[in-house]
Amino acid sequence: MDEVTFRVFRGEPDADGEPFGQMIDYTVTLDEGMVVLDVIHRIQAEQAPDLSCRWNCKAGKCGSCSAEVNGKPKLMCMTRMEDVLEETPDGEPVLVKPMQAFPLTKDLVTDASWAYDMDRRIAPISGPEESDWEFRQEEADRLQEFRSCIECMLCVNTCHVLREHQMFDDFAGPRFFVRLAGLEMHPLDTESRIPEIKDDFGIGYCNITKCCTEVCPAGINITDNAIIPLKERVVTEFYDPLVMLTRKFRSD
Ligand code: SF4
Ligand code: F3S
Ligand code: FES
Repeated sequence: MDEVTFRVFRGEPDADGEPFGQMIDYTVTLDEGMVVLDVIHRIQAEQAPDLSCRWNCKAGKCGSCSAEVNGKPKLMCMTRMEDVLEETPDGEPVLVKPMQAFPLTKDLVTDASWAYDMDRRIAPISGPEESDWEFRQEEADRLQEFRSCIECMLCVNTCHVLREHQMFDDFAGPRFFVRLAGLEMHPLDTESRIPEIKDDFGIGYCNITKCCTEVCPAGINITDNAIIPLKERVVTEFYDPLVMLTRKFRSD
């Protein structure tokens, strides 16, 4: 029977809040069709009942089982072991770590409460309560793409502005640019969002590396469909000479 060795981070924050722990090896039997989360559950069942991980739906829908598998941000419930083994060097264990951009809670669980705070900073849709607006197909498709976000935070975990530079106060990050784009491009939304997208949510810090798009399990084209159009709107509103002139006349 096939076996697999997982090298899993075990630990908690130290007194300064920094991750403190070690990588521990667990070898378990591998059944056909297993995903990474199945292996973690088997480790919990057979060897480490106190190993913490977060999960809920086991179907790629709730966004709670995010972790780093062999250094890549993944949903554990959607990551097939046969794919993981294919990219793991022979004789080496599979490395499983918590998301590195967020503060550690315990083992594979991180504290992503920053996301709730950021969500609260975004004004909800404001527009007529009733409308007979008929959505064109492309408008509906665009909003549907943005609404398919499962809030797994894998894009946030990957973006260097947050992961390396920790600019959590000044930069909304890819997940929330998706949310802001869904509101800004909603045909019924009347809120003026571009000034705060530029100043409070720091879209200028994004240098379009596209790493966020590459890891999104919902297949959202974060950079091309959300971030770049928002950047274009910022440029139009703040740096287009004609728009600037019109604004000046209006304020005079
Ligand atoms: Fe996850 Fe994609 Fe949503 Fe980012 S945009 S939180 S990667 S589903
Ligand atoms: Fe970050 Fe995505 Fe921009 S990874 S830098 S938000 S393109
Ligand atoms: Fe819900 Fe993995 S357990 S997305």
